[in-house]
Amino acid sequence: MTDSIQTDVVERILQIRIVRPERKNALTHTMYDALAAALLQADEQSEIRAIFITGTDDCFTSGNDVQDFLSHPPSGPDSPVFRFMRTLQQCRKPVVAAVNGPAVGIGATLLLHCDLVYLGPDAKLQMPFVKLGLCPEYASSLLVPAMVGHRRATELLLLGDTLRAEEAVSAGIANAVFDEYYQEKAFDKAREIAALPPAAIRMAKRLMKEPVEEQISRQIAREGAAFVERLASPEAREAMMAFMQKRPADFSAFE
Ligand code: COA
Repeated sequence: MTDSIQTDVVERILQIRIVRPERKNALTHTMYDALAAALLQADEQSEIRAIFITGTDDCFTSGNDVQDFLSHPPSGPDSPVFRFMRTLQQCRKPVVAAVNGPAVGIGATLLLHCDLVYLGPDAKLQMPFVKLGLCPEYASSLLVPAMVGHRRATELLLLGDTLRAEEAVSAGIANAVFDEYYQEKAFDKAREIAALPPAAIRMAKRLMKEPVEEQISRQIAREGAAFVERLASPEAREAMMAFMQKRPADFSAFE
């Protein structure tokens, strides 16, 4: 389907790699389709005990492919990006992420839905939705303020400030920062969880998530509708055209 999402099963762990270095691993609708399909298959196959998701050595993902967003904008809950979000959010098996370099937009917010998150020393999480004329997605407007408080969340979600590795750990968004061998070390954690009794793991994960699941799903749906609306706005168009034309965006004409 796409070479940019590479999957492999190693020691009963599904490895998913986002590999599109020429675009900083930006995600297209075809890649979301492939991610959703891989996650769904892993969730259904009893021999898979855990899922490991990573990017390339120096970049997790720059988030939605801006050009693809303009040519294939998501239109509703069945669009590939929303299907991917639901599949990860509802995944019954443990998901371990290994992240270094930029993790932008959904590259940062998807981490809120993984079970274990390990960072390389150069990890930089960014949620620049508002700068792009968009709005927070994937329940980030609920989960980020709950983790870091309203004022720091305002810096992250409205100003689009960068969250560096150590701070992401103290905020509770990631478990630990590893050195340059972060992928190997994170994979060791996936091995550790994959060796545990699988039904007990699934039950524990379910019990941990159930009490807040409904609220999170509602917020994802609310944000999703607002996001689709924002995507069609002149503000978003100006921001995305500016990114592609490598110029600063000009919002002075908007009310
Ligand atoms: N969509 C489409 N193309 C993207 C992209 C994205 N999200 N992110 C990067 N690219 C492209 C760049 O346009 C550039 O293309 P070029 O070689 O034709 O000039 C190439 O990937 C390399 O990116 P560049 O910006 O030169 O790399 P960098 O190391 O200086 O910065 C980022 C990396 C991720 C910090 C920066 O590219 C960025 O901020 N990207 C946009 C992120 C974004 O807004 N995502 C959407 C969130 S909803």
